Amino acid sequence: MTDIILNTFGLVKQYGRITAVDSLDLSVCRGEVHGILGPNGSGKTTTLGILLGVIKQGNGSFTWFDSEPSALNRRRIGSTLEMPLFYPYLNGVDNLKIVSDIRGCGYDAIDPVLKRVGLYDRRTSRFKTYSLGMKQRLAIAAALLGNPEVLIFDEPTNGLDPQGIAEIRQLIISIAHEGKTIIMASHLLDEVQKTCSHVTVLSKGKRLYSGKVSEFIRNDLTVEVGCDNLDSMIQEVSAWPGYDHHEISGGMVLIKLKEGYNPGMLNAFAFSKHIVIQHLSIRNGSLEKHFLELLNENHEINH
Ligand SMILES: Nc1ncnc2c1ncn2[C@@H]1O[C@H](COP(=O)(O)OP(=O)(O)OP(=O)(O)O)[C@@H](O)[C@H]1O
Ligand SMILES: [Mg+2]
Repeated sequence: MTDIILNTFGLVKQYGRITAVDSLDLSVCRGEVHGILGPNGSGKTTTLGILLGVIKQGNGSFTWFDSEPSALNRRRIGSTLEMPLFYPYLNGVDNLKIVSDIRGCGYDAIDPVLKRVGLYDRRTSRFKTYSLGMKQRLAIAAALLGNPEVLIFDEPTNGLDPQGIAEIRQLIISIAHEGKTIIMASHLLDEVQKTCSHVTVLSKGKRLYSGKVSEFIRNDLTVEVGCDNLDSMIQEVSAWPGYDHHEISGGMVLIKLKEGYNPGMLNAFAFSKHIVIQHLSIRNGSLEKHFLELLNENHEINH
């Protein structure tokens, strides 16, 4: 049995003439780290706001845990969406006491969640003295209060430096390992690739892709190949069934593979044609490119 946590059916949200969320169907299963990926203004925050009951959709519906949204099942969801509502002159513990009061949960969970996010040593410092990364971690600590099954994060690494990004990413991954389901909005493909198991790509409120991150990558495999005789390599490989297209870059040939083909198969084919590949790597930028292509295609359709 698939354990579906969230289902949305044709969600629509209109702001005047702008359609922020456009007929969105979305499914999230238990244990997923589900990224909502899209450029600025693509409707990520609006979608999360609807799911949390902060924004009312114009059309469509959704279910949490297979039932209608209610205050009761809302308690099973922690979120950083409405943050930061923290008081600058209060310390971390006192801020979390206020959140606990609002949520109606006791103070026992405060120390453990502060330890969980690595803020315990700074728990008595005022919020206004926290770095941006620490503020984000306090927001995550607040979301963890009450031990919710699902966590919703909106751009959790926004504005952080590379070290801060890595720390938050690790924290999210470790929370997921505890069996929580996570839904997070991001405009960074790299972040989604490193953190999420599943992704829904949005553009102008529309869903362009939804599925496993690994499938999204596999659909666009580009390999960088270096060998002594590039010309004969290109000639041979363009007759290979796994070949989609190629381009030359920096003395290497970038070969886009068709679905179902992998770099090992390319290597074996080249070898069978007496071509020795000296360099072969999967191009990291390919996913980024695929993402941008997907957005551009959609852009063209709309015009
Ligand atoms: N309260 C509002 N009133 C009018 N328009 C709004 C409002 N909130 C959002 N929008 C519009 O809805 C669209 C989607 O906005 P949203 O904030 O959901 O995007 P986002 O994907 O979260 O963007 P970002 O990456 O910048 O956070 C945008 O065109 C935005 O201008
Ligand atoms: Mg947003």
